[in-house]
Amino acid sequence: MEVPKFYDEQKEWARALLLYDSVLKEINTKLEILNNEFKMTHQYNPIEHIISRIKSPQSIAKKIRHQGRELTVENIIKYINDVAGIRIICSFTSDIYRIADLITQQSDVKVLKIKDYIMNPKPNGYMSYHMIISIPIFLSGEVVETKAEIQIRTIAMDFWASLEHKMYYKFEGNAPENIRKELKECADIVTYLDHKMLSLNEQIKNYKREYQGEEETDIVTETSVLLKDSYGTVVDEDNLTKTTVNASKMLEVQDMLSALQEKAIRDNIRKEEEVAVAKQKNQTKESKSSGARSWFQTSFFSWDKKKSQENLKNA
Ligand code: GTP
Ligand code: MG
Repeated sequence: MEVPKFYDEQKEWARALLLYDSVLKEINTKLEILNNEFKMTHQYNPIEHIISRIKSPQSIAKKIRHQGRELTVENIIKYINDVAGIRIICSFTSDIYRIADLITQQSDVKVLKIKDYIMNPKPNGYMSYHMIISIPIFLSGEVVETKAEIQIRTIAMDFWASLEHKMYYKFEGNAPENIRKELKECADIVTYLDHKMLSLNEQIKNYKREYQGEEETDIVTETSVLLKDSYGTVVDEDNLTKTTVNASKMLEVQDMLSALQEKAIRDNIRKEEEVAVAKQKNQTKESKSSGARSWFQTSFFSWDKKKSQENLKNA
């Protein structure tokens, strides 16, 4: 954020708070979208919960003083990276890196700094993955790159950090040696617990793959790739070129769908040879997929009816 030489500090602070509030909203939305997509495709949500906050004026003042700087809006914007802070609590350690990657890959996200306290825990045992990122905030007259701190940790790491934080304040940073030692031991237990839970989860996934059969999704994925452009396209009926492009695209989609059907037939033959339990499970899935089209149409119209009834009620 660039700060002009002469400005009204009160106004500038109000503007800064607006930007920090906006950056939290943007990141929260990004995370909610990723989590919802995950829930839809993997029937599993990697994010347990999210907390976001704007740093309190007392904490900002304390940090600026600690840095030996004057308390000015300019210094806060320049030197305090966590005025806007967001904490993501995940299920497993692997989710932490997956989420960090997904955030990093987004084209509007700039990663300014990373501290990996999971690969390199702090001497007291603290573990978390920290990122300072910035994203553009679109105001009416300008775009302002605004930074925020993201902390990503597991439930177990969060449990430890919350209790350690409380104790740290009780002892004002000077905890006796034996307490520090025991806290470190607790951190080791947390690491063990996270490893154990992760490997248990892997075992459960393998079990599901082996005994309940996992559907291959490659053709479906290709179809989705073909359809992707359509989400951002307005089809003009009078525009022949566009219609042609769209028609050829539809033909490709149709090809994909018939390949999908052929694959389903081949799968049926293979599935007949599988063990009784797996067979029963797959048959339920098959009956669902073979009726997908009519299911969609029926549900769509009942949804439409329900929606219009709701609209009438609200009118
Ligand atoms: P600070 O925010 O002043 O610590 O700046 P920094 O640049 O040193 O950031 P760092 O990434 O090391 O830590 C940022 C935040 O992580 C802190 O504000 C805490 O929320 C958390 N944190 C870091 N170390 C610890 C710790 O030992 N215990 C606990 N409970 N939290 C910690
Ligand atoms: Mg902080």
